[in-house]
Amino acid sequence: MNASADIGLIGLAVMGENLILNMEGKGFTVACYNRTVSKVDEFINGRGKGKKIIGCHSIQELASVLKRPRIVMMMVKAGQPVDDLIEQLLPVLEDGDIIIDGGNSLFEDTIRRTKYVESKGKLYIGTGVSGGEEGALLGPSLMPGGSPAAWLHVKPIFQAIAAKLDDGTPCCDWVGEGGAGHYVKMTHNGIEYGDMQLICEAYHIMKEGLSMTPDQMHQVFKEWNEGELKSYLIEITADILAKKDEDGQPLVDKILDTAGQKGTGKWTVISSQELGIPITLIAEAVYSRCVSAMKDQRVDASRHFPRPDPRFPGNKQQWIQDIRNALYASKIISYTQGYMLMRAAAQHYGWNLNYGGIAQIWRGGCIIRSVFLGQIKKAFDRKPDLSCLLLDSFFNKAVRRCVRSWRKVVSTAQRKGIPVPALSTALAFYDAYRSAWLPANLLQAQRDYFGAHMYERVDRPRGQFFHTNWTGRGGTTASGTYTV
Ligand code: 6PG
Repeated sequence: MNASADIGLIGLAVMGENLILNMEGKGFTVACYNRTVSKVDEFINGRGKGKKIIGCHSIQELASVLKRPRIVMMMVKAGQPVDDLIEQLLPVLEDGDIIIDGGNSLFEDTIRRTKYVESKGKLYIGTGVSGGEEGALLGPSLMPGGSPAAWLHVKPIFQAIAAKLDDGTPCCDWVGEGGAGHYVKMTHNGIEYGDMQLICEAYHIMKEGLSMTPDQMHQVFKEWNEGELKSYLIEITADILAKKDEDGQPLVDKILDTAGQKGTGKWTVISSQELGIPITLIAEAVYSRCVSAMKDQRVDASRHFPRPDPRFPGNKQQWIQDIRNALYASKIISYTQGYMLMRAAAQHYGWNLNYGGIAQIWRGGCIIRSVFLGQIKKAFDRKPDLSCLLLDSFFNKAVRRCVRSWRKVVSTAQRKGIPVPALSTALAFYDAYRSAWLPANLLQAQRDYFGAHMYERVDRPRGQFFHTNWTGRGGTTASGTYTV
């Protein structure tokens, strides 16, 4: 058979199908294969009919129709299926051919797989693909990383199918070696969890604190989507609040309040623990989903504890402004933390991440796309080695403008018994981060008291450690000062 296809794609679930149609629409010939082979014929005779798409009934056939170097993209479930497929692909590929994983794979798996595939003479890319079904079809945000030599061959296809900014910049660029692309996608998802939780807390306060109806909240989110909060997630929230069920009642009120999760938020938090980076907002967002899932226990507990009157006193319009400010300031903290995490990961794993470039990749096509990311890009243009987003002049000013509202909203929600874990942890982080002094001196004393873990002194150079015999009973032997 003629080797005429520019790329092969394996996995005909909705993301895979839509990516194929997107690629074909941009002028590429795409070969496709699916483990359940009948899906191939269904697709070729259905959505793929009359297009430059070659349906293949085996992996061998797929390999035979691809131009050299072959590019094969896997759109299958993360985990073992990816490893299994790599094993099937390796024997039918030649040296220099490229395997791409477009699923939400754990970055450590991608680091391992890149090394493994390279050891077999082939090249590997693990790429983040964001934007859901619609993004895959119309223009996703793409975050490729892996074997640098593969990028040259994959770039024309990826940048053609990616979302474009108004000036034509594609929301896709090379992220870095090994697992860098999947790490950045994982962080994207963590931030996505944070953004969603913040919106849910704003909704909670408006619903219970301000007794607003979904229609009224729809209006608020619509207005917010015209200003500095303009983003895909605010936009869809406005849409969701306006949606009516078949009986004409707001659909949102009929949806059970237990959240699911597929694991990328959890991975982000695990990685932050490994690297010692406080991404407190994303962590609270993940735990909030866990608390929401304890529905039966919550219903039971609600019978045992009184709840305060949730109504916020005073002017409703003013509160809406304050909630918007609190959300905006918290969002700045969340992205500050997310960028701190990527910085630490880059150092740890040896990636040369382009932080402004990442903001640009996320600016369009993906779930967290927003005008806000344009400001992050500008911050890194101003100072490419910016160590903390919060210290950039734009964000510094923005937080100072919002801080009064933020304190008011968090403290009132707490008094009124409305849980605001993301808004409040963001404020706690802000207060800790801007504090030259924290009570960790006492903590070090406690550690030294019970475990002889030693402490540094304010009146001696850093790096000198001391132990005190606090009770007169302990000896002078210290236990060492290593820190994980
Ligand atoms: C995206 C999304 C996507 C993710 C879903 C579900 O960027 O398009 O992040 O990759 O799989 O949002 O995530 P949860 O089920 O964990 O909410």
